[in-house]
Amino acid sequence: MCRFRAMHKLTWKFENDLVVYLFCVTYSLMQIDHLEFAMPCAFAHFQICTFSNYFMLHIAIVNGPNLNLLGTREPEIYGHQTLDHYLKQLTKRFPLVHLHCYQSNVEGELINYLHNCMGMMNGIVLNAGAYTHTSIALADAVSAIGVPVVEVHISNVLAREDYRKTSFISAKCKGSISGLGMDGYALAIQYFVDALLPPAP
Ligand code: DQA
Repeated sequence: MCRFRAMHKLTWKFENDLVVYLFCVTYSLMQIDHLEFAMPCAFAHFQICTFSNYFMLHIAIVNGPNLNLLGTREPEIYGHQTLDHYLKQLTKRFPLVHLHCYQSNVEGELINYLHNCMGMMNGIVLNAGAYTHTSIALADAVSAIGVPVVEVHISNVLAREDYRKTSFISAKCKGSISGLGMDGYALAIQYFVDALLPPAP
């Protein structure tokens, strides 16, 4: 598994370097009107981009209401880390995953974002915050989009108030992670990596 990751890391870096290189060459050739050379370069650039996209997983990290306040919000329950800081760490930890991070305090905006994930994302990590316990509309969106969703809660919702023990979303998801702190997001991403990337040779 480690060899596989290291190999992909290298491939990924190589592809990105090549993309930048080919882009610069195409641009320079176009500037000096060498279209006959620029066109094959542009084509190669396009091919490499498609190839990179094929190997990269696209995972949306969707956070609902009040999760923008992580770091200052009830730190005894949710910890001291801000969402932005944690998401930056996740980006470094999963170089093969293109993370698309979205947070909103508005139910309809979250639903619209989930709709926009259709056909665009390989998976979604969803912490719907308090909408977990109230929103049938959000649960319907999870069912409707046909993209696998892993539900995450930073705190252990089953060990808290009774109204947090109901989730309209859980049954529509691949699985749920609750009570493992911010690490729940990383574990959910790891699930998608293991399930969707090709196995080690
Ligand atoms: C939460 C749990 C919810 O009950 C709460 O409303 C939140 C955060 C969690 O991550 O632990 O906003 O989803």
